Amino acid sequence: MRLPKQVKIVEVGPRDGLQKERLIVPTDVKIELINRLTACGLQAIEATSFVSPTWMPQMADNAQVMAGIQRRDGVSYPVLVPNLQGFEAAMAAGAEEVAVFGAASETFSRKNINCSIAESLERFATVIEAAKKKGVKVRGAVSCALGCPYEGEVAPAAVAKVAARMLELGCYEIFLGDTIGVGTPGRAQAVVDAVADKMPRELIAVHFHDTYGQALANILAVLERGISVIDSSVAGLGGCPYAAGASGNVASEDLLYMLNGLGIETGVDLDRLIETGNFISGILGRPSDSKVARARGAALAFRPV
Ligand code: HMG
Ligand code: MG
Repeated sequence: MRLPKQVKIVEVGPRDGLQKERLIVPTDVKIELINRLTACGLQAIEATSFVSPTWMPQMADNAQVMAGIQRRDGVSYPVLVPNLQGFEAAMAAGAEEVAVFGAASETFSRKNINCSIAESLERFATVIEAAKKKGVKVRGAVSCALGCPYEGEVAPAAVAKVAARMLELGCYEIFLGDTIGVGTPGRAQAVVDAVADKMPRELIAVHFHDTYGQALANILAVLERGISVIDSSVAGLGGCPYAAGASGNVASEDLLYMLNGLGIETGVDLDRLIETGNFISGILGRPSDSKVARARGAALAFRPV
């Protein structure tokens, strides 16, 4: 089995993780969460999104979050933007990297961003044009890469087509989202291979929700296919309100435990990450969804005194 020596973890907890919570997490807690994640040694932390506050009230404090966090040199804090309005608001708030988010499914595109795939690509072109002028990096998401809550199966060729167009427009990296966590390892490899026919594997990242418990297996399968950038969410938080049945992302703690076990470097401190996951889970009033955090908690509870 050939695996990468290093993996970049993109922590999406503060955005994907908190966007589906019924409780709107106070701004100072979001800021503390991001600062704690920075202290864990992560290289990239998706901080918030500049979307419509009507569509996503959980992210309405985006500018305050960006103003409050302590940024560390060498760490990127991308924010999601659906259109030029979001991009301009993100720039005004001091964002230095953005992500545009499209989909491989027509119905999901309409439900999530209220436009067709073709229209979304036109909007992204405008955003990327504006970003280029400012020297701002743009990441690109392709949702429903392994299945759609409305249309069911999605063909790998459809994913590859949208991914290739987003790269052509100027995204520096494309992340393939298993928005509803239905993928299995063979299909995950097939989708990565289809996208890799259109672009170098180094430019492909993955973003697995863990609804069916397949995320770690999928990640291992795509690591074998040369993928080395992986999104995850602390405490396994996450989901999209416009994707019925979607549960949390793969937990960052569980991902890191697996990568550590494989001897793959990430630069992230597992103990601190577990503490951070427990911190935000405590605020949300429930135990962490990370199996590793739970196992560590149980081990501590049973440690002889
Ligand atoms: P729309 O209603 O079609 O927009 O929504 P519009 O252009 O017609 O404007 C309507 C109103 O929204 C106007 O305000 C605009 O100013 C405002 P009004 O005049 O009525 O007062 N508006 C905005 N406000 C703030 N920021 C903006 C913005 N744009 C317009 N950027 C829109 C279209 C795209 C805005 C809406 O559908 C939207 O915000 N969607 C975002 C939904 C979302 O956040 N989904 C979750 C993120 S995606 C995800 O989780 C998947 C991912 O994790 C990968 C995976 O798991 O697969 C990334
Ligand atoms: Mg997601």
